[in-house]
Amino acid sequence: HDLRHANTLALPSRAERFWLARRECDVVQGVELANRHDWDLTVLGGGSNVLLPPIVGGLTLRAELDDVSFMAGEGGAVHVEVGAGVNWHALVQRCVARELWGIENLALIPGLAGAAPIQNIGAYGVEIGDVLDWVELVDRRDGQRRRLRREACELDYRDSVFKHELANQVVITRLGLTLSTRPAPKLEYGALGDRVADPSSARAVFEAICAIRREKLPDPLVTPNAGSFFKNPLVSRTQAERLLSAAPSMPHYPQPDGRVKLAAGWLIDQCGLRGLREGAFGVHDRQALVLVHFGGGSLAELLSFSERIVGAVQAAFGVALEREPRCIQTAAI
Ligand code: EPU
Repeated sequence: HDLRHANTLALPSRAERFWLARRECDVVQGVELANRHDWDLTVLGGGSNVLLPPIVGGLTLRAELDDVSFMAGEGGAVHVEVGAGVNWHALVQRCVARELWGIENLALIPGLAGAAPIQNIGAYGVEIGDVLDWVELVDRRDGQRRRLRREACELDYRDSVFKHELANQVVITRLGLTLSTRPAPKLEYGALGDRVADPSSARAVFEAICAIRREKLPDPLVTPNAGSFFKNPLVSRTQAERLLSAAPSMPHYPQPDGRVKLAAGWLIDQCGLRGLREGAFGVHDRQALVLVHFGGGSLAELLSFSERIVGAVQAAFGVALEREPRCIQTAAI
């Protein structure tokens, strides 16, 4: 099964075996099949945050559950249940159309809802963790369906239990979110507030976010990419102060734990790498945190290109950049 069009970086890749699950019972069957044969199990969503190898061994499963339901709660709360296969941006659009608040800042994030908790998608001051109640999944260790409450998901900046203990162990099938009919605009990020025509409308916030993202971020359908290729690094306050004394305009975001988050895009940009192209890959010219694929490249080439960027930032600032998209690794066939 060809996966070139199933990953937004358009890396050449093939799945040894592919399983499309439209309902929960299909997911359970796929998991049983992988267990029976002792195959690696890779769950693929929209493929917008993964680095695929040339061949994905074992069983590659895609959960296409596409139901969405809304249930009114107390005090303006609205509980939304969403199948893992629902396109994330389409969900945001549906919620905004009902003037529901909570995920309007997360507009235009590529990928499927089921993948959203894995990296705790976040943008413009909001993370899915702010509205997530639970995640339903099928656990390959016992074949059972279970519901994990938000606290058990260990959500952190671009991180969750699904990248650690539960990596390759579970298939997420459904999410529960709580949104609200009561206006709660979150406009503190950068100059976002200046771009919103009517802060009392979720749709207006959504439209401002879409406009900002379209200015900076390449559309994967036009220029293959996986969004931010690196996480924004966390450094000690001492290191941040040292860097700030040399570059007072450096973007920096103090964290509750005393550390300081830096903007990886700015660091790469300062190294003069924005717009750099080397063979099939390049650094996006409007947002240096995004690596783009011009076509014909391989995962190995992409990794060596990204190492060059990591090396340059390390040499210039003494800051180690960590990769953001997950590398899919399976046993050799
Ligand atoms: N900057 C530059 N040059 C660049 C890129 C950025 O100087 O080439 C500066 C900007 O001017 C700004 C700062 O760096 O002062 C931060 O830039 P931006 O607001 O574009 O956000 P980011 O920190 O680069 C993060 C997320 C994005 C998310 C935006 C908005 C990570 C790894 N990335 O990027 O998420 O959309 O904030 O909240 O945290 C993603 O994860 O794929 C992603 C796109």
